[in-house]
Amino acid sequence: MSIDISAYLPSDGQAAMRRAVTPIMATMQGSKILAIAAQVKTLQAQGREICNLTVGDFSPDQFRVPDALTEKIQQYVAEGQTNYPPADGVPELKSAISDLYRDKLGLDYGPEGVCVGSGARPPIYAAWRLFTKPGDRTVSFLPMWNVGYYAHFCETEHHFVPTSAENNFFPTVEQVEAQLHGTRLLCTNSPLNPTGTVIDRDVLVGIANAVVAENRKREAKGQPPVMWIYDQVYWLLTSQGSTHYNPVTLVPDCAPYVIHVDAISKWMAGTGLRVGWGVLPPYLQAKMKGFIGHVGAWAPRPEQMATAWLLREPGALDEYLDGLRTQINARLEKIYAAVLEMKAKGLPVDAIAPQGAIYLSLKVDLFDHGFSTNEEIRAWMLEEAGVAVVPFQAFDLPADSGWFRMSVGAVGLDELDGALDRLDAALRRRLG
Ligand SMILES: Cc1ncc(COP(=O)(O)O)c(C=O)c1O
Repeated sequence: MSIDISAYLPSDGQAAMRRAVTPIMATMQGSKILAIAAQVKTLQAQGREICNLTVGDFSPDQFRVPDALTEKIQQYVAEGQTNYPPADGVPELKSAISDLYRDKLGLDYGPEGVCVGSGARPPIYAAWRLFTKPGDRTVSFLPMWNVGYYAHFCETEHHFVPTSAENNFFPTVEQVEAQLHGTRLLCTNSPLNPTGTVIDRDVLVGIANAVVAENRKREAKGQPPVMWIYDQVYWLLTSQGSTHYNPVTLVPDCAPYVIHVDAISKWMAGTGLRVGWGVLPPYLQAKMKGFIGHVGAWAPRPEQMATAWLLREPGALDEYLDGLRTQINARLEKIYAAVLEMKAKGLPVDAIAPQGAIYLSLKVDLFDHGFSTNEEIRAWMLEEAGVAVVPFQAFDLPADSGWFRMSVGAVGLDELDGALDRLDAALRRRLG
């Protein structure tokens, strides 16, 4: 016999939850992107043909993790590599990451500057917890993925600073300088989710110099520094013709303040494997390690061992990345070319040339054609063209300016042809 738990639970679950949890947890928001993805699934279940460009993930039908990685994970499980890993990662992986950063970014942190976690999120959240307390001033630039949730958890006084399409949705140096006073944590990401753009070299140099100058002043006054999360989870998915820059390579003086965030989630198409890391000044590493250890947010040991093996296998990573980037770029370039063609024909669309990650910024300006919000345009595109995209509002940019994220991680090249034709036809119908 088993006890039916529901007989013992409060009848109004929502009210009981609000009494039980803290106000911060009660007001925690769910992911806006996942809500749209659920809508897409419902339409697909009804038999509608939908091109799903919403999810910042890879469909294994389209993009596979390296075969050798899969084999090695299985091998390490079979060998019994199944106990707790060290809280900051197995030594093999820490040193392989340290070599990767030395060889590809020219940064020699040593293994003592690496802290592994279960994906990029734990090092991000750890950094928020390390450097902020409730009421502290924190800053990010819009649009950007998920920062608001961390600010909410940490109860900081968060400032979202909007950027513009003219600057590829990155802040200007002046915008950053204007925000630094009193700020404890600065968050930037390049290549950028949701826009698929990369930060300009001179802008990054300017920001890095501003951070150094601000911290020199603070040091003289004995004040805590402004710390900088530099999220580069897509750096190895930078498109041909674009360059990924790193603030520490460009301005080494900012090294004491920069926390790089990285993972195999995107550049090995392994979002479900949960291997990520922070690369940070060794003087802070033990604190990140302690936090990740207490939360238990370490990466699974077999995945760590297999990642270390792959990073060390001569040529294996580059060969895999060449293939992955080719597949991603083919999709992004196809959409970009089609959007430019529509624009040339007078349809009210635009896009920014893809530079990295798995995203394209699409503009659909139907504000003179019966729509007043991005959300209305999104719903219309889904309904009329079977094209599912995410408005930049899901990345906290408040303006209804017609910008959307298209993510190609879960679509096939052939599927795109139909979707782009449907979008073209729907726009024509709308314009009459
Ligand atoms: C910019 C950025 N940083 C971090 C993450 C989180 O990565 P992970 O799945 O490894 O936690 C994502 C996921 O979409 C992302 O887009």
